[in-house]
Amino acid sequence: MTLFDHWHPVALSRELRRRRPLKVTLAGADVVLFRDGPRLGALDNTCPHRGFPLHRGRVDAGQLVCPYHGWRWATDGRGQAPGTPTARPCARAWEAVERHGLLWIRRAGSDMPFPFVDISGHGRVTTLRRRVQAPLEVVLDNFTEVEHTPPVHAFLGYPLERMAEVECATTITDDAVTVFNRGPQRRLPAPIRGVFQIPREADFVDAWTTRFSPVHTIYDQYFLVRGSDERRGPALRIAVFYTPVGPALTDLIVLAYASSARWRRPLLEAIRFPMTRLLVRIEVGRDARLLDAMEAPPVVLKGRALGRFDKALTASRRHIARIYRGEGEATGG
Ligand code: FES
Ligand SMILES: [Fe+2]
Repeated sequence: MTLFDHWHPVALSRELRRRRPLKVTLAGADVVLFRDGPRLGALDNTCPHRGFPLHRGRVDAGQLVCPYHGWRWATDGRGQAPGTPTARPCARAWEAVERHGLLWIRRAGSDMPFPFVDISGHGRVTTLRRRVQAPLEVVLDNFTEVEHTPPVHAFLGYPLERMAEVECATTITDDAVTVFNRGPQRRLPAPIRGVFQIPREADFVDAWTTRFSPVHTIYDQYFLVRGSDERRGPALRIAVFYTPVGPALTDLIVLAYASSARWRRPLLEAIRFPMTRLLVRIEVGRDARLLDAMEAPPVVLKGRALGRFDKALTASRRHIARIYRGEGEATGG
C-alpha cells in the first residue's frame, strides 16, 4: 500500500472546465484530469507515445488529444494513433470521482473507502484550495492545535492571556486522533457578535477528529454561554484535507458548512453565510501565510519542547506513517 491508494481531493470541481484539461500533482505524480460529459478522466500526464505533457492538449469528443502527434486518449486510458489505426496504445488511468464540489483520485485497483464527511443538517458555506510551502506533517501540526490561535488568528479562538484556562482533551484510537478544546472566546468586534448573536461572555468550542485515509480533519466549532452548555450563535463544520503535492508543498482543501437549522431568519442568514465565508477565508489565509513563512521546518518532532496542546501531533505522526504511508507493513507472503 502507498499513499496513492487513498482517495485524495486534488482540485475543486470549478477548476476543471469542460474542454480544457487540468494538471494536478499528487505527491510528485503529475496527473491530467479531463471531462467526457459526466465521466471524469485521470491519466498519467506524460503521453505514452513520446512523453509530451498531456495537459497541454485539448479535449475533443470526450477524448484527450495530445498536441504532439494527435494521439487520442479516452477516460479509461485506451488510446488511438490516427497514423497507425491498428495500434492499441494505453495510458495509465487513475480512478476519479467528483464529490462535495471536489475532484478526487486514487490508484486504479485500490479498495480504500471514500472518506466520510457528515454534512446532514448543514449548508455549504465555502470550498477553497490553498497551496502552502510546508510538508504535510507540518501543515497538520498547525491545524491540530489551538495554541497558535491567539497570535495567528483574527477572530476565532482564545486570548493569549487566558490560554491557561483553555481545556484541551486529546483522545487517541487506532485510526483517529480526537481533540476537544473549550475556553473563553477572544473579544470579537460588536458587529460580528451582533450578526452571529454571540454573547459577550462566550466560550468557544473547537473540537475535531483527524483521520488518515487520506489525512484530513473534521472540525466542529460553536459557542456556549460562559459556564453553561447552552449553545449560541453559529455552529460550523469544517473538513480540511491535506493533499501532498511534493515533499515540502501541500494543498489545503477546505469544505466549510454551517448548521442552517439554527439560522432561521432568512434576512440574517443572507448576511451570515457570506460573512462566514469571509471569516473562514481570512483565518485559513492566516494559517497558510504562517506556514509559508516557516522556511523548511523540521518534520521530526523528537527533541522538540512540546506542550500540553501538542499531544495530538506525536500520535498523528505515528498514524501518518502506518495508515497513510503504509510504513512498517509486512511485505511478501
Ligand atoms: S507524444 Fe503524444 S502523440 Fe506523440
Ligand atoms: Fe489556525
